[in-house]
Amino acid sequence: MFLNNKAVACITCHKLEGVGGNIGPDLTRVWETHSLEKSIESMLEPSKEIKEGYQTFVATTKAGKTATGLRVAQNAEGVVLRDATGKEVMIPANDLEELQPTKKSLMPDDVVKHLSYREFLDLVAFLRDRRTQESLRAVAPKKE
Ligand code: HEC
Repeated sequence: MFLNNKAVACITCHKLEGVGGNIGPDLTRVWETHSLEKSIESMLEPSKEIKEGYQTFVATTKAGKTATGLRVAQNAEGVVLRDATGKEVMIPANDLEELQPTKKSLMPDDVVKHLSYREFLDLVAFLRDRRTQESLRAVAPKKE
């Protein structure tokens, strides 16, 4: 289920044992780093506690356009935001009106809404299960 990106999309945003995207934090060893309560809370109320470095920002341009995403880079030239689909936009500094952190996680509140209760429990069990997570190493693309 974790790998099924149509049902829950975890893998679109999270890497685990080398498999998946890099929008959200790497979940490798989540069985060890997160308690049962914390794993459940992370899925049901992502905005309750936002992981350091993963705050969502809203940038407003001088023309009044907005962009939302994680701040992946910021320097004298401008700021780069990565949105929930992984798309990055660069807003040049001279075009930037305002850059504000938000209290809302980029992880949607309703990621598990299409799951039945049983499927949700399976997903929770997976997040606690070291052995099954480590079996993903066989699926992961080999490092060069
Ligand atoms: C649109 C991208 C996206 C999707 C889809 C998504 N997440 Fe997340 N997730 C994030 C981001 C960004 C954070 C970091 C911000 C935060 O703490 O809320 C996060 C945080 C987490 C955390 C806490 C990590 C930590 O170290 O504190 C867990 C656990 C988690 N996600 C699990 C899941 C699971 C399981 C699914 C699938 C049901 C999922 N996520 C789907 C983007 C996503």
